[in-house]
Amino acid sequence: MFLKKLSVINFKNISEANLVFTSRVNCFVGDNGAGKTNLVDAIYYLSMCKSSLTMTDGQSVRHGADSFLLEGEYLSDGERIERIVCGFRRSGGKSVRRNGKEYEKLADHIGLIPVVIVSPADSFLVSDAADERRRYLNAFLSQLDREYLTAIVKYNHVLGERNRLLKQLDWAGGEELLDVLDEQLVRWGEVVCRKRRELVERLAPQVAEYYRILSDDREQIELVYHSELNERPFAELLASAREKDRINQFSTAGVHRDDLRMRIGGYPLKKYGSQGQQKSFLVALKLAQYRLAATVAGEKPILLLDDLFDKLDMARVEQLIRLVSGPEFGQIFITDCNKVRLESILERSGESYTLWRVDGGEPCQVESEADPERVDGRVSEIKNDAQ
Ligand SMILES: Nc1ncnc2c1ncn2[C@@H]1O[C@H](COP(=O)(O)OP(=O)(O)OP(=O)(O)O)[C@@H](O)[C@H]1O
Ligand SMILES: [Mg+2]
Repeated sequence: MFLKKLSVINFKNISEANLVFTSRVNCFVGDNGAGKTNLVDAIYYLSMCKSSLTMTDGQSVRHGADSFLLEGEYLSDGERIERIVCGFRRSGGKSVRRNGKEYEKLADHIGLIPVVIVSPADSFLVSDAADERRRYLNAFLSQLDREYLTAIVKYNHVLGERNRLLKQLDWAGGEELLDVLDEQLVRWGEVVCRKRRELVERLAPQVAEYYRILSDDREQIELVYHSELNERPFAELLASAREKDRINQFSTAGVHRDDLRMRIGGYPLKKYGSQGQQKSFLVALKLAQYRLAATVAGEKPILLLDDLFDKLDMARVEQLIRLVSGPEFGQIFITDCNKVRLESILERSGESYTLWRVDGGEPCQVESEADPERVDGRVSEIKNDAQ
């Protein structure tokens, strides 16, 4: 999938922008606070109907404005055109349209324009509690697999009911009701566990391989799915935890306690990994996610690399660029605050690219001085794309 044209009105610090992209590498450069991440976030929003950051829709409207509007024109790998418009009004809420037709449910849009983002904000996946990693697994799997989405929604619903029941002091009929809820919890929990296990089994070797390339074979990493359900049948776990659950007044066993364990050289990444090693792990994870999503969806996602050099040394960034220049990757957006550094690395990779300088929320396309012939080629390519 490739984003040909993007129009932005009143989204964060961007009052108005109209951009035409190439199907390969597109770069935004500019100082801190210029609006590079905001542009990347606008692209993410058009795919996911929400910001990639912890910003509400209201907070994403430019200060002083009443609404924002994002419009993307895409070309699928099968040459299908998709026009997506996302609008938000402080007074009227959000609306998302595909080729002029409004969606009834926003969830129906998720997955149509696959996107994978690598950003400094990912660090929470290593540093925060297991619920963030579960949220990541849920979001990733829900995009790929409707059956998983159904199972996790049902599981969470039954879990809520069970916890409510455990909090009730009056236990008349409580045991029988718990039996019924446990049966449902087992049914949905086993689906969730199996699909998470299968996903991580497919992802883990690919993550290790990408990490090996990024680190130039320096370190070994492991990604392991941890679940109590891997050791004992869920029904058995629930039965033996019932007494404890009653005392604690919440459910202490189940897939809501799963984790994604990350290790480097045999030790926990969170404690023993350097910042660059942690970032490399996350990049490897996201690239593996990209490959899997591309295979399952039959459509190459858009790859957003926000703040390319964040915590990575030059050698790792160079390896990363080499990796994503391969034919298995499609359209890429890169941001960096240093134009010279970014251009030198792209020139060395031999990859052609377009470049925007962003200043005060205004992107302006820059023609590279380095190679006039290639720039001419790129400009005509852009013109052709725009027609
Ligand atoms: N709703 C909003 N209205 C107006 N400006 C906003 C809004 N939300 C965020 N901003 C502004 O956007 C700017 C941040 O933009 P962004 O995060 O895209 O910067 P950046 O170019 O990625 O910088 P860095 O290099 O530091 O990552 C800040 O100046 C912030 O005040
Ligand atoms: Mg930024």
